[in-house]
Amino acid sequence: MKTETTVISREALEQQLAFCNKIQAYWHDRDRVPTAYVETYGCQQNEADSEKIRGILSESGYAMTDSAEGADVVVMNTCAIREHAEQRVFGNLGALTHTKRRHAPQKIFLCGCMAGEEKVVERIKKSYPHVDGVFSTHHLWQFPQLLHRVLTTGKRSYFTEDEAGSIAEGLPQLRDHTLKAWVSIMYGCNNFCTYCIVPYVRGRERSRKPEDILAECRSLIETGTKEITLLGQNVNSYGKDLEENIDFSDLLVKIAEIPGDFLIRFMTSHPRDAGKKLFDTMASNKKIAKQLHLPFQSGSSRVLKAMNRHYDREQYLELVEYAKSVMPKLVLTSDVIVGFPGETDEEFEETLTLVSKVKYDALFTFIFSPRTGTPAATMEDPTTKQQKDIRFTRLCALQTQISEKMHKNYVGKTYRCLVDGVDGDLLTARTEGGRLVRFEGDPSLIGSFVQITIDGSTTWSLTGTLKEDR
Ligand code: SAH
Ligand code: SF4
Ligand code: F3S
Repeated sequence: MKTETTVISREALEQQLAFCNKIQAYWHDRDRVPTAYVETYGCQQNEADSEKIRGILSESGYAMTDSAEGADVVVMNTCAIREHAEQRVFGNLGALTHTKRRHAPQKIFLCGCMAGEEKVVERIKKSYPHVDGVFSTHHLWQFPQLLHRVLTTGKRSYFTEDEAGSIAEGLPQLRDHTLKAWVSIMYGCNNFCTYCIVPYVRGRERSRKPEDILAECRSLIETGTKEITLLGQNVNSYGKDLEENIDFSDLLVKIAEIPGDFLIRFMTSHPRDAGKKLFDTMASNKKIAKQLHLPFQSGSSRVLKAMNRHYDREQYLELVEYAKSVMPKLVLTSDVIVGFPGETDEEFEETLTLVSKVKYDALFTFIFSPRTGTPAATMEDPTTKQQKDIRFTRLCALQTQISEKMHKNYVGKTYRCLVDGVDGDLLTARTEGGRLVRFEGDPSLIGSFVQITIDGSTTWSLTGTLKEDR
């Protein structure tokens, strides 16, 4: 495996953009506007990548559609995090044999995290002959070349060579929203948590230059974006690989200095690298949302060690205590894995007590799924699936109770919210902490920050009334 990050040169990128022009000419000769459908699985990082894939397709003359039926290009941007996610992709990929039969020119591509797994690429080559091309996340920037090759030669092509990873600035991007935008600040991961496949499929940790990130944020804000979510697998280690002396908190401050009324969110924070400087920066800056996604994964120090997380239960609890002390309105969410190999009943109880103690607003709960090539996949695992299911159900029930209670606490209080859409006769808005609120109002409010007094709650959402004297 190559260990150096490749920064894609301007010339190399221009060559790719030239392929976009050639693809346009190809369709111009055929006298029709081609269509493309991009299906995204997995996390926000993939959502952000899909915006680049759509950008490339749009630059190549394709109009986007919302179904694979009749589309000239179908791209499946996949997730490898759990077995179940992969099975869904293989199922949906199989179904594309029919859409291709009904529309012979259809070209099908698979990319994203699954494309970084050798065994997946082999399976596609052997058993999915209707798939025309595969490219891993490292090769996303070369998609124009791949698409051109497939169109003009009709041959199946693969850009899946294993690399440490690349940074390509200046790719075209077709964003999903104008109000809210994802901005990747770094790619890859160096943490090698023993259960996780991400470092193998997304390569080494690499930070974008602050000036490139700032230019992107500035242009977004100038064109009406009100909420920017900074993305990275572990945003707290931002800058460690840069020559410049800058860390994540410094970057947050620089972005917040851009003039305008907007909110900054970010994910994900690894508890190992999050600390007082970050929380103090959040607390003292109005433009940074008081929202923190701080995955703990397990409440047991023994399990955390086996997961290679580099913090223990006590350190995690101390961190949360400090964050809450400087941000009393903090909205806290987390990820947790149930049934890590060797997790005992007592260790699982420690997860429950941690959840009761911290009181998260929401929790993303997962049952351990062995991923080939990761250390945890070969660890002894005497716990049965049935036992794990029981633990999982207990954890979900506990969190539902907590979420309900947390939401009830909103009632009677007033929150600053960004109005972001309509839902039937009502408008939707998000609190600074990211909670969904429905309320009555004029659609002209979409895109502005308003004060809403909460008057009702369910487990997952809130209802409120607009406070007129904004
Ligand atoms: N970088 C983020 C997490 C990205 S993956 C972090 O470190 O917090 C999102 C979540 O998927 C993880 O937090 C973990 O809870 C879950 N996950 C990852 N690998 C898994 C596996 N093999 N089985 C079950 N859940 C897993
Ligand atoms: Fe996976 Fe751990 Fe990296 Fe998160 S920090 S992406 S869980 S290896
Ligand atoms: Fe899945 Fe890749 Fe994200 S494995 S969770 S899409 S980084």
